[in-house]
Amino acid sequence: MEQYAIKGGNPLVGDVEIGGAKNAALPILAASAMTDETVYIDNVPDVRDINVMLEALQNIGVAVKHSDRHKVILNAGNIHSLVAENEAIKKIRASYYLMGALLGKYKSAEVALPGGCDIGCRAIDQHIKGFRALGARVVIEHGLIKAKAERLTGSHIYMDVVSVGATINIMMAAALADGLTIIENSAKEPHVVDVANFLNSMGANIKGAGTDVIRIKGVNRLHGSEYTIIPDQIEAGTFMFAAAVTKGDVTVKNIIPKHLESITAKLLEIGCEVKEAEDCIRVVSSKPLRHTHVKTLPYPGFPTDMQPQITVALALSTGTSIVTESIFENRFKYVDELTRMGASIKVEGNTAIIDGVGRYTGASISAPDLRAGAALVIAALSAEGFTLVDDIRYIERGYEDFHLKLQNLGAHIELVETEKDFQKFKLRVG
Ligand code: EPZ
Repeated sequence: MEQYAIKGGNPLVGDVEIGGAKNAALPILAASAMTDETVYIDNVPDVRDINVMLEALQNIGVAVKHSDRHKVILNAGNIHSLVAENEAIKKIRASYYLMGALLGKYKSAEVALPGGCDIGCRAIDQHIKGFRALGARVVIEHGLIKAKAERLTGSHIYMDVVSVGATINIMMAAALADGLTIIENSAKEPHVVDVANFLNSMGANIKGAGTDVIRIKGVNRLHGSEYTIIPDQIEAGTFMFAAAVTKGDVTVKNIIPKHLESITAKLLEIGCEVKEAEDCIRVVSSKPLRHTHVKTLPYPGFPTDMQPQITVALALSTGTSIVTESIFENRFKYVDELTRMGASIKVEGNTAIIDGVGRYTGASISAPDLRAGAALVIAALSAEGFTLVDDIRYIERGYEDFHLKLQNLGAHIELVETEKDFQKFKLRVG
């Protein structure tokens, strides 16, 4: 099993190219199955969750071809199954996007109940509520969500919680329903807007994405399209915090600065310099980090997917900080690992009370989930001595070439498989 071997202490310096947004690409790939015509998608990140989605699409008969590492050509003209239930698909949360896509186009879908990172109870009641409002019968049987309808009819749907997944799923199904659907209290994340833009590029009629009311006028059919996925705001934010924590100077390139405003604001608050240009942001960390408070919120609030990364920075700052997680209740599992590296953090319910310490020290740790895994790597990059990070398969779900991009910024990080490899790494960089 591969692990990351890390020697901390080098400030990260240089430029890093940010890839396409995983959480936009997942629904966009699923939505490609909503037309019989060919769809060309660019800026698709080469990460595990995406490859699982592509495999699931192939399993139901979608022709999938890579014209290069990040360009995918899909044709769903010969779909032979409306049931997605292979072992891999059960492991990703985004499997639920096949529901909205297949139900919209074929008025029938059966998809394995979603898995994904273990960060708390991940309900799907809002997805089901939306499909039912459009006229589908939905049941859960034998580990599958099954939805069927003679026809889908537009509806006025008020979301009880702000949900990225439910907003996108209902939007997809409603794109091919009869009449007008209005989703109120919808999620406003950049990837919701990106999926709406993609569907519109296929001939859908969706207005208001990015606000909390989305209006979808159903159309009869969707056609082929060429589309480029937006940059990944969380990958960018992760490297920005890596600069902050390692006292570095990093420019994240190929990004949309507007999507990163809440992250930029917190970096300024804790004492970093942040310089924005049209499609890049430079973060310079030359002073001691200051404490602050942060609460995760739906966009444009501070993202839950950046909560572990900011906690890693605050645990090194002067003073006491409070981090409140308001989206997922189980997203502080990494705190035990960070404590092994010297952090002083007390978790009470959905709040972490952090007493800043002067430094981290290397240890053997495990990545409990995708974002926490990336955050622990950042901690290790600033730590004194060596760290071995286990369970890096979680990190590979959502970060392309993570260790290579970090190496390019001057980090001592390598993939190792055995204790002997780790010892060799230590001798080499020691
Ligand atoms: C998406 O998950 C992302 N995943 C998550 O990213 C991200 O953390 C999350 O949005 C919030 O931004 C993908 O896009 C694949 P939600 P999703 O539905 O859609 C509750 C990462 O690291 N809820 O917006 O599952 C839910 O329990 C991952 O890349 C219901 O109650 O999140 C949560 O408290 C991890 N009923 C809140 O809403 C529902 O039917 C927000 O969840 C749906 C959600």
